[in-house]
Amino acid sequence: TLQATFYGHTYDNPFMNASGVHCMTTTELDALADSAAGSFVTKSATAEAREGNPEPRYVNVDLGSINSMGLPNLGLDYYLDDAIKRQASHPDQPFVMSVASYQGFNEYVANMRKIQESDYTGLVELNLSCPNVPGKPQMAYDFEDTDKLLTEIFAFYTKPFGVKLPPYFDIMHFDKIAAVLNQFDLKFVNCINSIGNGLYIDEATDTVVIKPKGGFGGIGGEYVKPTALANVRALKQRLNPSIEIIGTGGILTGRDAYEHLLCGASMLQVGTQLEKEGLGVFERLTAELLAILEAKGYASIAEFKGMLGTL
Ligand code: DHB
Repeated sequence: TLQATFYGHTYDNPFMNASGVHCMTTTELDALADSAAGSFVTKSATAEAREGNPEPRYVNVDLGSINSMGLPNLGLDYYLDDAIKRQASHPDQPFVMSVASYQGFNEYVANMRKIQESDYTGLVELNLSCPNVPGKPQMAYDFEDTDKLLTEIFAFYTKPFGVKLPPYFDIMHFDKIAAVLNQFDLKFVNCINSIGNGLYIDEATDTVVIKPKGGFGGIGGEYVKPTALANVRALKQRLNPSIEIIGTGGILTGRDAYEHLLCGASMLQVGTQLEKEGLGVFERLTAELLAILEAKGYASIAEFKGMLGTL
């Protein structure tokens, strides 16, 4: 069995979409709910609806993808309304609501306050790794501000939530973010968002491939797997055992999924490959992961989760 236990619920399998892919509208979310994915997450919502950046703003390349979407979304009220109806009509099928901020600190707090005051009781993924108004790094690269923000939110927020993190590349940074997060009763952390501000150049034209930001954009896909695995592993080793890990980044095959689970992930999100392959990716990944378990003689994910070998 591929059953995955995550924050008190057992899912048929650990696979989800990664926020941003196939989750903008109720129609797209319904299709995810009807797919072979174990669960799903909504598009990161900001206080107001946003058009996002000019196109082209997402491009698939051989080894992955590059994007600078600019937080296009239908606004927090839309996703909250959808979520409240969805949890009433499908109480047996939990999902995750992604919440972001474009304006920075105060908007994060206001968005969480609105959810606290709503009838939604499910999981929230607070996206601390989304593009911001220029002049500030993304929230989770500012350890002091992240500490302040979570302190302020936990002063009033009583529902379950976790955070989506950007990749870190230094052992000191793993130590620092874990020390901040361990002060709070977070239910999960999701590692990783895209590797920020890469540049892809088209060989035929010697130009960038996306229009916003002079071509700079977040990198996903095969490029990011080693970084994603390192972040899942490093956070798993440092966080309180009560904080579960969602592994995201470079999951194209059952083997990639298996490696994220070895590093300690409980759930797995698929972004670039879902965008390339469509919803059928979830059937393929579940079949490939199940074949690996069978070949290795494992009856369940619990038998190897977190058990990465070292030399
Ligand atoms: C966008 C990109 C992100 O990496 C993210 O976490 C949220 C939004 C975007 O450009 O829309």
